[in-house]
Parts: sequence; structure tokens; C-alpha cells
Amino acid sequence: MSNKNNKDGAQSVGNGIRGMDLLRNPAHNKGTAFTKAERDALGLRGLLPPGVLTQQQQAERILRHFRNARSDLDRYVLMNDLMDRSEQLFYKVVMDNLEEMLPILYTPTVGQACQEYGYIFRRPHGVYISARDRGHMPEIFNNWPHKDIRIIVVTDGERILGLGDLGANGMGIPVGKLQLYTACAGVPAKHCLPVMLDVGTENQELLNAPLYLGHKKPRLRGKEYDDMVEEFMVAASEAYPGVLIQFEDFANPNAFPLLKRYRDRFCVFNDDIQGTGSVAMSGILSSLKITGQKLSDQRFLFLGAGAASMGIGDMLTALIMEEGVSKEEARQHSWFMDSTGLIVAGREKLTAHKARYAHPHAEIKDFCEAVKALKPTTIMGASGQPGSFSKEVLRAMAEVNERPIVFALSNPTSKAECTAEEAYRYTDGRAVFASGSPFAPVKYKHKTFIPGQGNNAYIFPGVGLGVVASKSKHVTEEMFFIAAKTVASLVDEDDIAHGRTYPPFDKIGEVSLDIAVEVAKLAWDNGLAQVDRPVDIREFIRDLRYDATYHNHAS
Ligand code: NAI
Repeated sequence: MSNKNNKDGAQSVGNGIRGMDLLRNPAHNKGTAFTKAERDALGLRGLLPPGVLTQQQQAERILRHFRNARSDLDRYVLMNDLMDRSEQLFYKVVMDNLEEMLPILYTPTVGQACQEYGYIFRRPHGVYISARDRGHMPEIFNNWPHKDIRIIVVTDGERILGLGDLGANGMGIPVGKLQLYTACAGVPAKHCLPVMLDVGTENQELLNAPLYLGHKKPRLRGKEYDDMVEEFMVAASEAYPGVLIQFEDFANPNAFPLLKRYRDRFCVFNDDIQGTGSVAMSGILSSLKITGQKLSDQRFLFLGAGAASMGIGDMLTALIMEEGVSKEEARQHSWFMDSTGLIVAGREKLTAHKARYAHPHAEIKDFCEAVKALKPTTIMGASGQPGSFSKEVLRAMAEVNERPIVFALSNPTSKAECTAEEAYRYTDGRAVFASGSPFAPVKYKHKTFIPGQGNNAYIFPGVGLGVVASKSKHVTEEMFFIAAKTVASLVDEDDIAHGRTYPPFDKIGEVSLDIAVEVAKLAWDNGLAQVDRPVDIREFIRDLRYDATYHNHAS
């Protein structure tokens, strides 16, 4: 992953492109920051106002617009417009202000952006492969201007956050995730490709909408769907050998089979299953530091038994097994409730994934009743059902636990099972709380609580960087396991004192680097890496990272 920006920045300004073409090329455009010498050398005289700004001044100007914007959606549009003008300035602003930018570029604002994608669409930021493109996939990849693609994030738009089927409008998700790869871990943007696999939509509102830009047909299902995904996997891996493919926001009935089908054939992972499992496991490890409890004493009750919950359950099972117990015993610690009720042994029509966690118990339909009956130490919501961690549920948790652990993971914010404020208020300030989307600090009874954000952005950028740096053939479960432990190890005394289950987000660059080093070590130790092991892995990876700072043209 050579990075021209780092290695020979001075010579690469403009990259041979000149004049107006240069100003219109986001990969090389510095706009008003082109120096006088550069303007002369690159055919820019007269094409810019005479004043020359530094990158820092440009960044301040952008931030002023950003903060004055009327809505978060306007901020989203403003930032994506900036990416279309100057990629380096975009990443400079994002990387220097990550905590402020994350809720705009990703959840919750990206959810609204996807819902409105047809109205705010300006330029394509990735490739669209629709059901009409069967037989033409190599041509599509050939049309994409960058050839050295190392990471693809692909969605079929069927389960966008907790918002359901948004069809081709779901493209905002791969775009946002790949921006985080660059902003959080420093994977150069030119190596990243967002892909929308547009197999149609079942969202009638979109099918009726005149401005909907997707393939206006019902979703492909069954063999037709499988064949299209297969064609994509083969074409992408042929166009970009060894590329890491991240499955994102596929609906539950496709998410598990696709991962199973491809995990040993290609370099793939599913972030909703594995990334979520990892970030939640990390949050649990930190929560136990806060509550001072043992893992073996925990009982987890999940609301939702989909990709996210099952991914977390499996990761916790693996963690408990480290204490020397069997898989069967470890699974006894996790209970799941889906839209039909508590998953118990003997319940009809249980999928294989759910059946593994069906323990003997009477059927229960109501979540609060399940809390009272099972007395969990942790409730974990990934159901997309806002308000389901009601006052009664939270009170019941506080009754049986000194420090109840409450993770309301559904995204975006409007879908969270409870708010941070509710979690602290109804447990009398005793809850250890984390959410999927951000919540502001909460003041309760003269104390300030800082809610943890169990955002997958703590995990996948670092894992991806480690995989790409080592050119690992596969992404293994062990990699997500080590990533979770790495993040938890970075939660310090100060975080614990504030009840914070994750390190502050402004440390994400170092967090991602630490994860990448551990992941790459695993790849080399397990014979998966396809490049020689460097003497100093950390230095090797550090050198590969994207540099958002401008370099000047040698005059
Ligand atoms: P999914 O569609 O695979 O699963 C949803 C589950 O919720 C299903 O088991 C369904 O039966 C259950 N459910 C629906 N209504 C229910 C009800 N009234 N009572 C009980 N259960 C009910 O979706 P997935 O991928 O598991 O995601 C679920 C939510 O988790 C989404 O809002 C998503 O945004 C969020 N999520 C959060 C992450 C994070 O914070 N790090 C990462 C991944 C997902």
C-alpha cells in the first residue's frame, strides 16, 4: 500500500494534472492553498483568487460553515461536497475533529442521508451494480478510475441501520464506512471502493417515488440473488486480487449464509455480525472493570436475535470459554428474545443460529417479564425497537443488580432501546450504559455520566488496516477477538472513573494502529500473510497510513 502522499509528496502535487482539470480533481486539488509557485508551475494563474491560504485556514473556514449549517443533513451534504472538491482537506477536517464529525458522516445522520439519498445525490462515490448489470461486472470495475483497490464495503441495502429496506439509497452506508477506514485507521481513500449491489427493493414508497434512483423492481431472491452475489464476488476478486470485502447491512436471512459461503473462499467479513460482536465484547470487558464483577457470573439477555445480537452472543461465548468451560456451558450465559418471544428449547421454527441458544424455560412474550424471570446482569438491545428498555425494565434491572449493565445498541439514535438519560435516571445513576449511536453526557444528581458508544468504528478500521498491511488471505474470528481485547485494554483509570466503557474517540488513530499491529501479527503467525514479515510491524504499518496534510510542489 504505497502512499504517494507520504513518500514523495513534493513531486506528486498535481500528479501531472494541470489547470482547471487539477482544480476539478479532488485527489490532487488544494484550491486556495496552491502556493504562488505552484500556480505558476501548474497552469493555475488567474484561475484562483489571489490570496493564498494555509490548509489550516481552509480547515477553519470549513468548520465555520459546518457549525453554522442549519441541520445535520446540511452538514452531511457540506462535508461530502468537500470530499468531491479536495480529498485531503476533507480528511484533514474529519481527522482533526473526529468526535464532531462521526455523528454526521456516520450514525445517526447517515441514516437520514440514506432516507433522502435520491434528493441529495450529487456525484457517485462508488459503483452501483444492479440486477441489469449481470454479465457486465468486469466492465464496471474497469470503469472505476482507481485500479489498486484493497477494501470494498458492499451492501444490498436491505437492512440499513435499523431503518429497513432502503434499496439503492443504502449506498450512504458503504461510503460512510470507507470514509471511516481512512479517517480512523489511515487506509488511503484511493484503495477503498463502496459498492451498492442493487438487487431491487421491497420498499413500496421508494418504488413509487419519482426521484428514486435505484433499480425499480422487487428484490431478487433465492437462486437469482445468490447467483448475482457470486458473480460479484468472483468479478471483484479478479479485478482486485486479494481485496478485503466487508458485507454491510444485509438482512439477517442473507447475512449469515453469505458469510458462511465466502469466509474460507475469499477475504471477507460481516461487520454487523463480527464487528458488532467485537465492539460489544470490548464494552463488556470494560464494564466488568467498572462493576468489579467476574465474567463467569454474568447472564446476558438480548433483545433481538438478529445478526448483531448473535454476533455478540458468539463472541461472548468464545470469551467465556477462555475460562476453561465447554461451548455448551458458555452458551448458557446468553439468552435471546426476538419478535416472537424468548427463545427457549422446544419453540417451533427456530433457525439453527437461534436453536444454539434455546435453553429450557417456559415461554415468555414480554421483555420485562423475561428480565424479572431471568435476572440478567446485562441487557443488550439490537432490535431496532425504541422504548423497549422501558422504565419498568430498567427499574427491574436496578432491583436485581448493584450495577446493571445496559447496552442499547440499535441505530440510529431514534431506534435506541432507551436513551442514556433514561438508563441513568431509572437505575438511580447505577447503570453502566453504552449505545450504538452517540448520546451527550448526562447530568444526574450532581454527577456527570459519559455514555459509551459501542460504535463498530472502534474495530473494523483497525482490523481492515491489519489485514490489508499483511495481505492476509482471510479475516479470522481470532482477529475480531484480539481487536476487542485491544480496545478494552486502552480503557484507562480515568475512563473507568467516569463510567466510560470505551476509550475517547479522539484516540481512534492510535487505537486502530494497535489493533492493526495485533491483527497483522496473527496473519503472519498463522501463515495467512502474503507479504514478508517486517522487522518492526508497527513502523511498517504506520508508514502505510494516509497523510491528509498538503505537501508543496518543488519549485
Ligand atoms: P436484524 O434484522 O438481523 O435483527 C433484528 C432482530 O430484532 C430480529 O431478531 C427481530 O426478531 C428482533 N425484533 C424485532 N422486533 C422486535 C420486538 N418487538 N421485540 C423483540 N425483538 C424484536 O438486525 P441486526 O443486524 O441484528 O441489527 C439490529 C439493530 O442493531 C439495528 O438497529 C442496527 O442498527 C443495530 N446495530 C448496532 C450496531 C452497533 O451499535 N455497534 C452494529 C450493528 C447493528
